[in-house]
Amino acid sequence: METVRIGILGMGTVASGLAHIMALNQDIIQYRTGKILEIEKVLVKNLNKNRDVDLDRTRFTINVLEIIDNQNVDIVVELIGGIHPAFEYVRDALKNKKHVVTANKALIATHGEELENIALENGVRLMYEASVGGGIPIINTMINNLPANDFTEISGIVNGTTNYILTQMTERNLEFDQAIKEAQEMGFAEADPSSDVEGDDAAFKIAILSYIAFGQRIGLNEVPKEGIAHISREDIKYADELGYVIKLIASSQKRENEIELRVHPTFISKKHPLATVKNEFNAVLLKGNAVGEVMLYGKGAGAMPTGSAVLGDIIAIAKEKFGENKQPIHPSSTKYKIVNKGYSQYYIRMDVVDKPGVLGYISNIFGKNNISLASVVQRYKHDLVAPLVFITHEVERKNIDDALQEVRTYSNVLKIASIITVEKSII
Ligand SMILES: NC(=O)c1ccc[n+]([C@@H]2O[C@H](COP(=O)([O-])OP(=O)(O)OC[C@H]3O[C@@H](n4cnc5c(N)ncnc54)[C@H](OP(=O)(O)O)[C@@H]3O)[C@@H](O)[C@H]2O)c1
Repeated sequence: METVRIGILGMGTVASGLAHIMALNQDIIQYRTGKILEIEKVLVKNLNKNRDVDLDRTRFTINVLEIIDNQNVDIVVELIGGIHPAFEYVRDALKNKKHVVTANKALIATHGEELENIALENGVRLMYEASVGGGIPIINTMINNLPANDFTEISGIVNGTTNYILTQMTERNLEFDQAIKEAQEMGFAEADPSSDVEGDDAAFKIAILSYIAFGQRIGLNEVPKEGIAHISREDIKYADELGYVIKLIASSQKRENEIELRVHPTFISKKHPLATVKNEFNAVLLKGNAVGEVMLYGKGAGAMPTGSAVLGDIIAIAKEKFGENKQPIHPSSTKYKIVNKGYSQYYIRMDVVDKPGVLGYISNIFGKNNISLASVVQRYKHDLVAPLVFITHEVERKNIDDALQEVRTYSNVLKIASIITVEKSII
């Protein structure tokens, strides 16, 4: 039986999961691929660290050339994370005609185009299923199972950390700071959670998914993003009363010659399938013109789920070892304009002075800006302060910003506390 030799860059969370699954499911994998998969070498920073993997010490190295320049290595698996030196290692491995599998969303979202071109020039594969949605097979589903479709929309919950925090805030009435502390203690948030909480991680992922779905590269500066740090218990309480939950949604839609994508906290109807996606779970919704709507749900992170996705890519390469290499993404012939109109319903919460005429005055400003209101709620009055909550009908974000600029100048408005998108671009 032929042996496929793998060099792994890194032996942290995901790489350990990968090594465990390779050992656990060895027989099944051999049966399914007709090949033996073997770990040839592993690059680490610290050779003395104790590692929970069943690998001989001689397999470890601190010299990357022993992997990317090693005649015995067929597939390089990049699991060190970050952009440098991961970019240089992957680039050089591809140039040395090694297939590469990575879970690195930051790398693929920023350098995917260049690396894919190098892979094509060298007749090798670059695969990155685990870069989006951890164990959820979203990229390969689009490429291999739904290639008959023209995709029009892709959206979902692609960051487990923020979903865990928002779930805990909703179900246990926690403030953001408490929820994040707990998430760190449980291992669902990193010591520096800013990339998750500020929406960068989700922005990397929706940029990658948009490319797979629509065939056009998206620059990260073209993805408007808003994180969850400003979401308060009060917003969550109003959402609940109005029949919603708040989720961090990454969405991308194609319309004629435009693509609109963003990452933002969103009011999701409790009846919507995404509302049931809780804690560290992820879900992605796709819309194809033939298949209709498809939702994939599963664990968005963790050693075994992410290792499963990485190993799926390795097996795909091993099975075709090493057949015709074609660019799997069909580049779009239309050059889509990336727009940021924010056409949606909005939830707006503000504190106003509790006296007659104030609501009428504000409603009038909304009317002048072509904003019609779906509902107005006024509860929990304290002292002379009245919180006002508006849900608008669909309108462009610019109208909301123009109206609120005028509302802010009205002396009876004490504070505009929140503006949150209400589900619309979700299927
Ligand atoms: N963790 C998840 O659940 C998850 C989910 C989806 C995607 N990902 C992605 O998977 C990748 C790996 O994540 P992870 O959580 O497994 O990371 P991790 O636990 O921090 O492990 C990183 C590994 O890379 C090694 N390393 C780091 N920099 C290196 C360098 N310059 N030279 C040599 N070795 C280096 C470290 O070596 P030492 O052990 O010697 O320190 C460690 O073994 C990242 O791109 C991440 O975004 C992770």
